[in-house]
Amino acid sequence: MSKRTMRAVTVREFGGPEVLAVEEVARPEPLPTEVLVRVHAAGVNPVDWKTREGQGMARLQAFPPALGWDVSGVVEEVGFGVTTLAPGDEVYGMPWFPRAANAYAEYVTAPARQWARKPATLDHAHAAAVPLAALTAWQTVVDTARVRAGQRVLITAAAGGVGHFAVQFARHLGAHVIAVAGAARHPWLRGLGAAETIDYTTTRFEDAAADVDVVIDLVGDAHDRTATRSLEVLRPGGLLVAVPAGVSPELARAAESAGVRVTPYLVEPDGAALATIAGLIDAGEVDVEVEETFPLEQVAAAHTRVETGRTRGKIVLTVTD
Ligand SMILES: NC(=O)c1ccc[n+]([C@@H]2O[C@H](COP(=O)([O-])OP(=O)(O)OC[C@H]3O[C@@H](n4cnc5c(N)ncnc54)[C@H](OP(=O)(O)O)[C@@H]3O)[C@@H](O)[C@H]2O)c1
Repeated sequence: MSKRTMRAVTVREFGGPEVLAVEEVARPEPLPTEVLVRVHAAGVNPVDWKTREGQGMARLQAFPPALGWDVSGVVEEVGFGVTTLAPGDEVYGMPWFPRAANAYAEYVTAPARQWARKPATLDHAHAAAVPLAALTAWQTVVDTARVRAGQRVLITAAAGGVGHFAVQFARHLGAHVIAVAGAARHPWLRGLGAAETIDYTTTRFEDAAADVDVVIDLVGDAHDRTATRSLEVLRPGGLLVAVPAGVSPELARAAESAGVRVTPYLVEPDGAALATIAGLIDAGEVDVEVEETFPLEQVAAAHTRVETGRTRGKIVLTVTD
């Protein structure tokens, strides 16, 4: 096999998991300031299957789309000018988002400062579960909502990829965390730091929670009007971070008449935040939950699992040894 090619997942038409294939494609080369990373594992996120279907980030990319953003691997080569990383370094990252990263592949190139050192206590499969979900949790809880000790923070889809990090980051900041998830997840979420749990299958969370400072909504209005209903639990002036689908004109109007704030949000690459998050993981402050790993060739099964919307923590593809 030539070193100029690599195995990668390709999508030749938008559609269901059956359009995913593994093919031999050209290997990327690092430009100045970029590093080439040999991918050991790639995390799977809902945006991946949405992009495969022609939604998600598909409209921002040339056709055919390249899938995957979450990488854990080893630096193979550095481009001119890179001084912070060297061949052999173990790194993780969510490079290029929302542009294509093509993380479901044996090699990825990206700017050096979009990577961080992999948490030393994690294997590659667990490290690949972190970047997109944990950056979303960090950038919403810490950077956007600026959660402070003593605040009441309600998180929907708390048992998912983003949610389980958001629970832990908010707890780490000293917040009172209210986690919304199916009952089977409650003992685990309490162990991660949730002070209260609400079973969304039996209880409407707006009947069980009130006087909340911040809602991190990870479900959205497409499911049971979850974003709009979450306005009801906020204290006057409280903040809803609407993560899955932004803020519709109706949601903006409802927030204004309820006297609360609402903001859309989209995750951004941030190597410095990933370095901070790695520190918390290595200090034992933050756990990383991987429900199952699949080899790259079983990418369709991995997508099918994530599309259920019922995974605990993350699903990860293993790419190279
Ligand atoms: N804007 C951005 O930059 C950004 C970034 C990341 C993610 N997102 C979006 O945010 C959403 C969450 O992402 P994710 O990666 O965390 O998804 P995920 O891992 O697939 O979430 C799965 C979890 O959702 C829970 N869930 C499903 N329906 C629920 C409901 N009605 N109430 C409470 N929990 C429910 C499930 O809990 P049970 O098993 O207990 O049912 C499951 O644990 C997705 O729509 C994703 O596309 C947006």
